[in-house]
Amino acid sequence: MNSFPKDFLWGTATSAYQIEGAYKKDGRGASVWDRFCETKGKVWEGHTGKVACDHYHRFREDIGIMRDLGLQAYRFSISWTRILPSGRGKVNAKGLEFYDRLTNELLQAGIRPFCTLFHWDYPTKLYDKGGWLNEESPKWFSDFTLKVAERLGDRIVDWMTLNEPQVFVGLGHGTGEHAPGDKLPIAKQLKIVRNVQLAHGLGVQALRAGCAKRGRIGWAPVGVVFYPATDSPGDIEAARKWTYGCGNNHMFSNTLWSDPVVLGRVAPEAEKAFGKALPKYSDADLHTMAQRMDFYGVNIYQGTPVTEGPKGKGKVIRFPDGNPRTAFVWNVTPESLYWGPKFLHERYKLPLYITENGLSNIDWVSTDGKVHDPQRIDFLGRYLGELKRVVNDGVPVKGYFQWSLLDNFEWAEGYKQRFGLVHVDYGTQKRTLKDSCDWYRNVIRTQGDMI
Ligand code: FCB
Repeated sequence: MNSFPKDFLWGTATSAYQIEGAYKKDGRGASVWDRFCETKGKVWEGHTGKVACDHYHRFREDIGIMRDLGLQAYRFSISWTRILPSGRGKVNAKGLEFYDRLTNELLQAGIRPFCTLFHWDYPTKLYDKGGWLNEESPKWFSDFTLKVAERLGDRIVDWMTLNEPQVFVGLGHGTGEHAPGDKLPIAKQLKIVRNVQLAHGLGVQALRAGCAKRGRIGWAPVGVVFYPATDSPGDIEAARKWTYGCGNNHMFSNTLWSDPVVLGRVAPEAEKAFGKALPKYSDADLHTMAQRMDFYGVNIYQGTPVTEGPKGKGKVIRFPDGNPRTAFVWNVTPESLYWGPKFLHERYKLPLYITENGLSNIDWVSTDGKVHDPQRIDFLGRYLGELKRVVNDGVPVKGYFQWSLLDNFEWAEGYKQRFGLVHVDYGTQKRTLKDSCDWYRNVIRTQGDMI
């Protein structure tokens, strides 16, 4: 076999705050991102998600584009504060109605909805009560999840609890670069880790209890990928070790997060790295966290090369000067889409989805009225080539979600970064399909055979 399986799923991904806009419409409450955007100096050029792509009002047009692309699946997230403006308590019917319409429209277009419950837009009202540090926070999340499950779980089958906990904890509560902008000591960040893992576990339970259809449930952490500089067994072993590793002063680890959630244990690597700073995980905690999952979603954009190095410790290799980089200055490393899924599957044994992958590029509308983005086509082609290779090596990757359908609000970078297959003019909200749209349409049409 040298192709993608017939049932391999092709999609794109977005998230609520990054595209919806309509920040006060129909009773939506504020999230930490609304507040963060209003704090001077936090987001590039003071950009905000108040309007974003105005997807809240234009979702039908956007689904029309998806249909034109031949998209098989679409990953989106729910804005917690549209459903529960105060984060808990009274439900806002209009919020649920929006996702109801969105779901119906997707299904009518023959597109399978993949729903993320939490993609970083935490309710300010709950943050002001201590947020993720509050022992009640896992329960707040599962109460919200239950409301969504009860409403949409008769139609949506595929669910992810949380997007990239490494980022919303590490950047939101560690470095302060993302909302809510806190800079907590490591022991407090680790307390949040534990609460977030409990929230995931209770969230899975809520989905299983609330959905009328039997759900397929996963989550979507960052894939922190180290790949071998050469194919030598020593380099491969070093890369594996680093991919399973933990630094002692940051959140960017696979195993710190996923060992409790998938394997029901604290990662030995995390114990070693953090020692006493780790909170206590009781058996009951681990039992709650480690709910059976149907898949492991993972977001992979880049990786870091490693060699065997002296003393078997492995050594990170510096990229050569002038290495290809995206507009975000992220290194172009297609190998990450081979080694990431491979190592993660070795440890967690679950079917995988690539829940995000893509690049930001300097795109604009040319004088011919089109948007030419050859770098995106080249980048995606290279990464998908590596994904095909790992699938052919027997790693069960079930689908791929390109980030992102539309150019959108890229968090602290505002509208500086353009990740879309579709260009958005934020002044007029005009959508222009980039060249990469035609290319991705063909990828889907040929079920990846042209890769
Ligand atoms: C990921 C986020 C996503 C988007 C991409 C570029 O970290 O999950 O929302 O910002 O990066």
